Amino acid sequence: MDEQLLVQKIMSTMRAVTVASHTLGPKLCDVKMPVPGADEVLVRVECAPATTFERLQCFTKVFTPPLVLGVQASGTIVSAGEGVPAGAVNKKVVVFRYVDPGKIVEPGWKGFWCQYVVMKYEDVYVYSQQIPHSQACLMYGAPLTALGLFRDLVPKPGLGVLLSPGASTISKILMRLLRRIGVPVVSLVRSQTSVDVLLRLGQTAANIIRLGDPEIEKSVQTATKDIRRWVLVDAVGHDSIVKVFRAMPEGAEYILYGALGGVESISINPEVLVRDRKSIRGYYLSYGPEGAKKGIRSDLDVVDKDLKAGGEIFGTPVVKEYPMGDFMKAIEEQPAIASRGRGVLY
Ligand SMILES: NC(=O)c1ccc[n+]([C@@H]2O[C@H](COP(=O)([O-])OP(=O)(O)OC[C@H]3O[C@@H](n4cnc5c(N)ncnc54)[C@H](OP(=O)(O)O)[C@@H]3O)[C@@H](O)[C@H]2O)c1
Repeated sequence: MDEQLLVQKIMSTMRAVTVASHTLGPKLCDVKMPVPGADEVLVRVECAPATTFERLQCFTKVFTPPLVLGVQASGTIVSAGEGVPAGAVNKKVVVFRYVDPGKIVEPGWKGFWCQYVVMKYEDVYVYSQQIPHSQACLMYGAPLTALGLFRDLVPKPGLGVLLSPGASTISKILMRLLRRIGVPVVSLVRSQTSVDVLLRLGQTAANIIRLGDPEIEKSVQTATKDIRRWVLVDAVGHDSIVKVFRAMPEGAEYILYGALGGVESISINPEVLVRDRKSIRGYYLSYGPEGAKKGIRSDLDVVDKDLKAGGEIFGTPVVKEYPMGDFMKAIEEQPAIASRGRGVLY
């Protein structure tokens, strides 16, 4: 008997981490087992990471409940509807949901912090089967954002990049991509853990700047003194980072892609932009005219190839594994382990 028939014979419901309202927060609930239709597959979720995305889903208004947490996971196809190619069952796949920039996330988001999920077969990514689930579940979010930022930076000779926060998952991947083509990287960090992680990855102490440095402006000026097109790529968005931007050389650009600093606004003196010919802009992962489906697939091919070869660029350590019942621990501990790697739910 195939797993779907077996599962549906014994279970009409499955466990899922759901958010019914932001006040109530996430809860482990029994929800209806999904059933695949034509061109769809039933995927048993094996591993799903805890990232800032899931924290946002729990606690911020960007996502409207009710929802099932999660943006990405790795799983196994356990049954398939009509029209799905023979041989799909038992394949290990990555499942994910892409959010278009500027699009409001409607209530009813169906994430992957659950036991089973139904997907269109054309929307799952069959990765190289030797990659473990715990690594494959990390293939989508951070690697693709780092690749998107890398393309956006138009890397060519003369570029220099200041990454903030320097030891985030995205920054570490971006640092390795930039290093490969000889672009100098300066890392801006808050904690000693971040410093230690970066030193272990071969970043030089001279190119690590601490946010608490009382002479931070001087440190930034020294680290960016080479004549280059300096770009600050930041996910913190806080006046302490604006201070760094002010100290960067004339013509510097500020690309902001996150709001980890948790403030509602930052203040930039217009004179800085005008007199020093500096610029600031936002970034959100998106794909050009070729479309997200094609773009995501081609980026996942790049990540897959690297992970298959050992993950020198896109590999991220799994620091801790949590059974699904410990989902709250995974959410609460996420910020504390972020610089070292990911926590993964199984
Ligand atoms: N725009 C887009 O398209 C896009 C796509 C994906 C993700 N994102 C955003 O990208 C950001 C980074 O994601 P990630 O997964 O790479 O992060 P992550 O792996 O979770 O790492 C977070 C890092 O931020 C540091 N940090 C946290 N709060 C900070 C603060 N107030 N000041 C300085 N450092 C701080 C932490 O360092 P310590 O705790 O060690 O100091 C840690 O190194 C998130 O905000 C996420 O929402 C944006």
